[in-house]
Amino acid sequence: MRGRFISFEGGEGAGKSTQVVRLAARLRARGVDVVESREPGGTPGAEAIRALFVTGSADRWTAQTDALLVTAARADHVARLIAPALAAGQWVLCDRYVHSTLAYQGHGKGLSLDMLTAMHRFACADLWPDRVLWLDLPVEAGLARAAQRRGTPDRFETHQLDFHQRVRAGFAAMAAEDARFARIDATADVDVVEAAIAAVLAA
Ligand SMILES: Nc1ncnc2c1ncn2[C@@H]1O[C@H](COP(=O)(O)OP(=O)(O)O)[C@@H](O)[C@H]1O
Ligand SMILES: [Mg+2]
Repeated sequence: MRGRFISFEGGEGAGKSTQVVRLAARLRARGVDVVESREPGGTPGAEAIRALFVTGSADRWTAQTDALLVTAARADHVARLIAPALAAGQWVLCDRYVHSTLAYQGHGKGLSLDMLTAMHRFACADLWPDRVLWLDLPVEAGLARAAQRRGTPDRFETHQLDFHQRVRAGFAAMAAEDARFARIDATADVDVVEAAIAAVLAA
């Protein structure tokens, strides 16, 4: 039987990476064979593209180049990791996926959503997640959390506040018209967010 494909979406510092690990542990305790991955990245080729994408100044690449880079990374990730895992019956938990491209390069940078969707169809076998867990919190709170993390801020953390506001509004717009989306209140304590995610998936 085909595995389930669950993506974690949301802005910087929402808690995606934290919660992927927690949900994976929960599912494994129930005997589910789980693969954890992230985007951009997840395969050696896609991780090489990630290094180009997340480092450097905010304006290192145009929006169009960003969309092509992240879609190229996703094409490798889908072909070599996600699709084979799902076909083998594994569940895939992915820290960001195509809705990040629609939110960041579409709603955030103004690229055509139809064009980005067509690129997804061409490059990624039109593979969509079964469930999208949207971890939502105010932009300022998320950026403040991200700034607490160790290491240098990535390219998107250094984008302007109004960009991040458009990204958040983009996620809200997609959630409003897509039943695969579940909005999770990411302002809550880590354990409360974990329980909210478990409740959504149990339902
Ligand atoms: N619910 C939460 N409440 C407070 N801090 C959190 C919460 N979830 C995660 N954090 C912390 O906020 C920072 C960003 O979390 P992270 O999981 O890296 O977010 P993301 O992957 O969405 O950018 C980390 O330092 C993490 O420990
Ligand atoms: Mg993260």
